[in-house]
Amino acid sequence: MWRPPQRIRWYTKPQAWPTADQAAQSRLFSPILVGGLPLSSRTWVPAMVPWRATEDGFVTDANIEWYARFARGRPGAIVVEATGIRDIPSGPLLRIGDDRFLPGLRKLVEAVREASEGETRLFIQIIDFLAIRRRPEPERFFRQFLRITDRHRQALASEAETDEAIREKLASLPDDELRTILDAREMEALRVGHRERVTNTDLPHIRALPQQLPSLFSQAARRARAAGFDGVELHYAHAYTMASFLSALNDRRDGYGGPREYRARLPLEVFRAVREAVGADFPVGCRLLAEECIVGGNTVADATYFGIAFARAGMDFLSLSRGGKFEDAKQPAIGASAYPYTGPSGYECMPQYVSDERGPFGRNIEPVTAIRHALRATGLTTPVILTGGIYDFVPAERLLAEERADIIGFARQALADPDWFAKVRSGHGRDAILCEYTNYCEALDQKHQQVTCQLWDRKQLDEPGIAKTNDGKRRLTPPRWHRSSK
Ligand SMILES: Cc1cc2nc3c(=O)[nH]c(=O)nc-3n(C[C@H](O)[C@H](O)[C@H](O)COP(=O)(O)O)c2cc1C
Ligand code: SF4
Repeated sequence: MWRPPQRIRWYTKPQAWPTADQAAQSRLFSPILVGGLPLSSRTWVPAMVPWRATEDGFVTDANIEWYARFARGRPGAIVVEATGIRDIPSGPLLRIGDDRFLPGLRKLVEAVREASEGETRLFIQIIDFLAIRRRPEPERFFRQFLRITDRHRQALASEAETDEAIREKLASLPDDELRTILDAREMEALRVGHRERVTNTDLPHIRALPQQLPSLFSQAARRARAAGFDGVELHYAHAYTMASFLSALNDRRDGYGGPREYRARLPLEVFRAVREAVGADFPVGCRLLAEECIVGGNTVADATYFGIAFARAGMDFLSLSRGGKFEDAKQPAIGASAYPYTGPSGYECMPQYVSDERGPFGRNIEPVTAIRHALRATGLTTPVILTGGIYDFVPAERLLAEERADIIGFARQALADPDWFAKVRSGHGRDAILCEYTNYCEALDQKHQQVTCQLWDRKQLDEPGIAKTNDGKRRLTPPRWHRSSK
């Protein structure tokens, strides 16, 4: 992962933990409505992919245990990981592109209800993503993947030669020369692996996205309701299809790219189709980026425009993340795919303890505050969820008191200690295990390995009946918290 060159080391330091009475009086542990849905507290566990689904996208026992474990800590809401809306193979990521996924998803919903005694509300994040290939062996790229055209022939002044001869010549050239012959997309396919973009409108299936996505998302949302979820979160953030439509880099010329109004068009059409499918009483919101954090990407002004448009259209919440784009991702190793959290924008999304002067905590606060203020100035009351490097009660409470956000997202903190919420609320804050923002978990995610936290995954490995990772070395969920009498 990319790290700021300043290499300043930051540590988590809690301020004062509240007593149970103080927690009961706090804003953080006070209820809030999301659409018509009451949350018992303003705490939220944002989506995190744990790599526990089957290869066919079905819910496993490990998925169920994972979410039940979070639910035992009783946050106000949990958002189930990014779940694919298409019925296509996508590795061990959850899918919701067909009714056959419903029984597993229903079990997951029931497990969360039971573990939290009905308290924690459960959302599911629904996602579309485009194809990405692994970085090829250069030899294979030239031999197999590159389509030889007249442009290559002319550049090599070898017009009469066979495709085979052209391939061989290209394969023997150094990068500098190749750059003058291959176009930008070919060069990218060679250096990082081919990646589809929403702007590749020469490809019929990309051109047709605006016609296909509203129904794919709305069918997925209908299934989410049928499975018993309390609401859906449309994934309009990071490196995926819908965020790419919103992006300032989207220059499609078919009315779905260019000015903000056109970039927001498909996300709004998707939302309207979803609303139509699930009804007015089912909470629907989205996750979007407060800033894309890439050259030429969306700024707070763009996100403000989109936030207002989505709230006006009737979204029930806006969850704001930042960064996490392919555009500045690191070159992957040969045989691996690019990963959108490896460059500076990835750092903004999941900042770690080796940082710059600003540090890893709360980098999204100012942009989210600006967006929320703009919403309120327009008379819109849609709840805004703020996430990013928040692990402590006092700052979280202050963010709510200062009206910078309505709900606080704790992603890695909840992974480090899913009981944080129960501990802090019951006056046992000092028992909380604080995330150290090492990004060990994120490195596992990058390698598509079962995600765990280094603060607990080797603890009490001899505990009877615990589930372990495929290699048997790590436990899959943290040990239970045995509440002390204090
Ligand atoms: C292992 C892992 C998986 C993640 N998967 C998702 C995801 O599926 N969808 C999403 O919107 N964000 C995902 N994120 C980003 C988090 O939701 C969150 O925005 C980010 O970790 C910053 O918040 P934090 O500082 O509280 O951890 C993931 C983060 C981690 C660490
Ligand atoms: S591995 Fe644990 S401590 Fe490290 S960043 Fe992830 S959740 Fe935090």
